[in-house]
Amino acid sequence: MAHPYDAYDELRRLRPVGLFEPTGQWLIARHADVNALLRDRRLGRSYLHVATHAEFGHPDDPAFQEPFWRVVRAGMLDVEPPVHTRLRRLVSKAFTPRTVEALRPKVARIAGELVDGFVERGGGDLIAEVAEPLPVTVIAEMLGVPEADRHLLRPWSADICGMYELSPSIEAQRAAVRAAREFSGYLLGLARARRADPGDDLISALALVADGGDRLTEEELVGTCVLLLNAGHEATVNVTGNGWWALFRNPSELERLRADHGLLPAAIEELMRWDTPLQMFERWVLEDISVGGVDIPRGAEVALLFGSANRDPEVFADPARLDVGRVDNPHISFGAGIHFCLGAPLARIELIESFGALLRAAPAMEPVAEPTWGPGYVIRGLTALRVRV
Ligand code: HEM
Repeated sequence: MAHPYDAYDELRRLRPVGLFEPTGQWLIARHADVNALLRDRRLGRSYLHVATHAEFGHPDDPAFQEPFWRVVRAGMLDVEPPVHTRLRRLVSKAFTPRTVEALRPKVARIAGELVDGFVERGGGDLIAEVAEPLPVTVIAEMLGVPEADRHLLRPWSADICGMYELSPSIEAQRAAVRAAREFSGYLLGLARARRADPGDDLISALALVADGGDRLTEEELVGTCVLLLNAGHEATVNVTGNGWWALFRNPSELERLRADHGLLPAAIEELMRWDTPLQMFERWVLEDISVGGVDIPRGAEVALLFGSANRDPEVFADPARLDVGRVDNPHISFGAGIHFCLGAPLARIELIESFGALLRAAPAMEPVAEPTWGPGYVIRGLTALRVRV
């Protein structure tokens, strides 16, 4: 978990498609296979639209997990067409590149304020003081979560994400269920208040959405808001932390970027490739498939190794090298196919604005200690990165 990239190199070379006994999943290590399977409709993030748990040989979800699954399966990420198509269409209007581009000045202002305070204090923990508050503030403002309640979002979100790790402990499962129950209760109250008294925010818009007579049910509305609030910051925090740590460990690339801020858009893509924030996504096999000559039967689960795909020498020249000016960079960090990250344009703006603000205001920023890493494998990121400016 601490150094997955060497293991990935070996997997891609020796066993790019193979059953991993400890989790019962088929590991998929090559970029071409990961990319193709993400787009292949014979696989799904869920199988419940075509089969029951029993038909796929799984026990029903434990009763205590019900509040968690009710929220998660009401958002677009954990459903497949036709429900996915309908939900994504209703929400995507708020995330077109044009709508999101209009948010840039606001994102730049929030990033500027956070970075100015950070620099005035002489530095501190980059994660807690810049990386986290920026995307949390942006998505909370977009949705219209009152400022006084925003401190609740990150702990709820972190507990919910605990369920996405490999073999979560029973404590982690209970924490996820509790967070899902509290978070959805909170958002339900907010959504009802906004339906009665709409504001200029995304929760109001979603509460009132009418698309050819189509509406979000209350459950879908809450599931969508939970998803947006979680997905809307978790990975962005980790790209910021992993990204700066990658630059500190590659001083010549950091100098290159400091000398030419025009490289920033390419550098952000490269940082997302080089130390991938979300290492793995899973899919259920809905019909028998064959991958690289290996047969995988219906009912199996594949683990798509994004971190490995992003270091595949078949696709990236000199993949272990961090190159902030890399031009041909089809990294897979935002996914592909129908679940391709809805927030990718927003994430890119947030990252360019926060890295840009730090490069300008803290041109000599440097770490003062080894960072601490979070415990997860799937969600890969730092919990603290102490720097001085
Ligand atoms: C650098 C930051 C981000 C990364 C690396 C990232 C990555 C991803 C990936 C890999 C997926 C697809 C998962 C799959 O196929 O199983 C996804 C989906 C999604 N992301 Fe992001 N994301 C980021 C930021 C954001 C932001 C800022 C938002 C919203 C404001 C967002 C909202 C979503 C949503 C709603 C989906 C579900 C799309 C669907 O199921 O159709 N993400 N993201």
